Amino acid sequence: MAPRTLPSLPAATAILLLAAVALLAPVAANQDGDALIALKNGLQDPNGELNNWGTASVDPCAWTHVECDDHTKRVIRLDLGFRNLPGRLAPELGNLDQLEYMEIHANNIQGTVPAELGNLKNLIALDLYNNKLSGRIPASLGELQSLKYLRMENNTLSGPIPRELVGLSNLMILNLSYNDLCGTIPRSGAFQNIPLTSFANNPRLKGPEVPGAGGDNDDC
Ligand SMILES: *[C@@H]1O[C@H](CO)[C@@H](O)[C@H](O)[C@H]1NC(C)=O
Ligand SMILES: *[C@@H]1O[C@H](CO)[C@@H](O)[C@H](O)[C@H]1NC(C)=O
Repeated sequence: MAPRTLPSLPAATAILLLAAVALLAPVAANQDGDALIALKNGLQDPNGELNNWGTASVDPCAWTHVECDDHTKRVIRLDLGFRNLPGRLAPELGNLDQLEYMEIHANNIQGTVPAELGNLKNLIALDLYNNKLSGRIPASLGELQSLKYLRMENNTLSGPIPRELVGLSNLMILNLSYNDLCGTIPRSGAFQNIPLTSFANNPRLKGPEVPGAGGDNDDC
């Protein structure tokens, strides 16, 4: 009986490498898929908008209302505006680190804006308007250096406007109107070109900060 030959060392290395590549390739896709399943689990979905999420395919790029980059196969867009999806926003959304557009407006979403959204370094638009979000605007949103559109009007957000947001150097459109924010309105940095109408209908807001005087959020 001939002794069975063991694979040579280079062959064994190649096999190990192939196995590692095969294991690593779906990791990014699963990171996005897992985050979206966490979102789905936090929402109600009376119209079955998310029915094929996690069932038809494990690849989130094949799911409805989700768009991926052609080359990286990472999720870059989430289009869930006006979909009648009450519920809460899962903190795992912060793991969609290639996301550029988060469109979750007009859905009756309750609860808080997860601080983890501050991890979305590629985010261009954060659209959460016309929901029932409450609690404070997380200061971590000041880390979204790609952000151009931040629309959170018509919720029940409270607390001060985080000063960190004036550092959003690409910000073009901000709308925080129709909330319950308090304190003064920062007017420095990225906020210099934001019209005061973006802060309208927050009965507890005291008005714009006096230049150089800093904010007054004392009883806020
Ligand atoms: C606020 O959102 C609700 C629910 O989507 C909508 O019916 C209402 O028109 C919105 N109000 C404003 C001022 O945008
Ligand atoms: C902000 O949103 C409100 C409510 O939908 C709208 O009436 C207003 O025109 C918006 N303002 C800006 C500056 O975008």
